[in-house]
Amino acid sequence: MTDPPLPSDLPDEPSAGTVAPAATPRDGRTFRVGIIGDGQLARMTAPVATELGIELHLLAGSWLSSAAQVIPRTIIGDYRHTDDALRLAERVDVITFDHEHVPAEVLTALQDAGVALHPGPQALRYAQDKLAMRAAVEDLELPNPQWRQVSTAAELTEFGDGVGWPVVLKTPRGGYDGKGVRVLHSAADVEATADWFARAAEEGTGLLAEEKVPFTRELSAQVARSATGEIRAYPVVQSDQRDGVCDLVTAPAPATEPDLLEQAAEIALTLAERLDVTGMLAVELFEISDGERRGVFVNELAMRPHNSGHWSMDGAVTGQFEQHLRAVLGLPLGETGLVTGDGGFTVMKNIFGGAVPQLHTALAEAMRLAPEAKVHLYGKAPRAGRKVGHVTIVGASPQASAAQSPAEAGAQALQQTPHQEIRTAQDRATELAHRLSEGGTP
Ligand SMILES: Nc1ncnc2c1ncn2[C@@H]1O[C@H](COP(=O)(O)OP(=O)(O)OP(=O)(O)O)[C@@H](O)[C@H]1O
Ligand SMILES: [Mg+2]
Repeated sequence: MTDPPLPSDLPDEPSAGTVAPAATPRDGRTFRVGIIGDGQLARMTAPVATELGIELHLLAGSWLSSAAQVIPRTIIGDYRHTDDALRLAERVDVITFDHEHVPAEVLTALQDAGVALHPGPQALRYAQDKLAMRAAVEDLELPNPQWRQVSTAAELTEFGDGVGWPVVLKTPRGGYDGKGVRVLHSAADVEATADWFARAAEEGTGLLAEEKVPFTRELSAQVARSATGEIRAYPVVQSDQRDGVCDLVTAPAPATEPDLLEQAAEIALTLAERLDVTGMLAVELFEISDGERRGVFVNELAMRPHNSGHWSMDGAVTGQFEQHLRAVLGLPLGETGLVTGDGGFTVMKNIFGGAVPQLHTALAEAMRLAPEAKVHLYGKAPRAGRKVGHVTIVGASPQASAAQSPAEAGAQALQQTPHQEIRTAQDRATELAHRLSEGGTP
């Protein structure tokens, strides 16, 4: 059994200004960024790289993958193989990631070869391993749900009896979109987890048990931290899940609890600095809006652009994909506010694979339905439940007034969130996404 990485490895002080300097183009012509991983996150980086004259290079598993379809400088290989990662490294100034599944030995080999990695392996482990993340959050005295590393069914039962059922059991590594998360309603459910314990024992990892947090809603706080140490927070967003998967995002989070949103942003800033994250960081959080446990609690970390930040492509002055490129290259960061200014909002709704076999057949009807919306499709075959695209609607609040000072407008936006406008936009985005996945009307 390997213990989770020790929190004592955390840097003592924020390392602002002491991390790697801005990248310099190796051929003196343009910046070259390599991305390991071929999903929609790499794909959506391509348009902004084009705008900034940045060359993107990709290590993809297939020419048919979402990202390889649109990035011509692609090499085909396996992200688990050091030789393939080194082939990518030869071509670029810095390397970043579209997912967190690159094995530690590949990351170490890249680092030993002098490759600039953003985020670096020391930071990335906290996004790769939920046990390491829980220990780090605890060490930094930030709010965790109750948790425990469990290696046997008996330990899990003891934990559940202690904190109260239901509990949530997680594989520390390799989970995504709710895979690797199980809710256990009572001690009777523990027996059915034997397969997970057996696999965890083989891998020498243990499992993560958490109390099932009685949250009011889920939030996501995103921060960009540059390779130079510059840092900027995005507005905290509300993230509604469907079957454990991000589904609908509202930015900024309708602020029934402004102080909790501030705390959420502070937590993300602290984690970015203390874990020495470079690039985009998303902190998924649970909000409990009242009672004794009122507060926000860390769920998990992602060190890359994140689904909860897709709204920013259309709704923020600097979208998360552009910001990630700026950050990993050590370029100055862009503004993170809404394009509408204070009082505006953006909603983002995911499109999941459904009854529509070819998304383009539903596109004309969807565009006719909502000409104010932006549609983003990922070039993926619409298998059931798979994220194949998203839509956004940007809305301005009639309450925002040019005569107000920014502070007044901000305070008013917090108190007078335009709930009705937001709900209308959420409904329209939902209907539009439904047309694209199922056809017809919801
Ligand atoms: N301790 C908990 N208490 C209550 N709900 C939880 C808890 N842990 C997870 N969940 C629910 O399950 C969802 C998925 O969990 P988590 O974010 O850990 O998994 P993931 O598969 O890594 O996520 P992602 O979809 O972000 O890749 C959460 O967004 C939340 O809705
Ligand atoms: Mg999650």
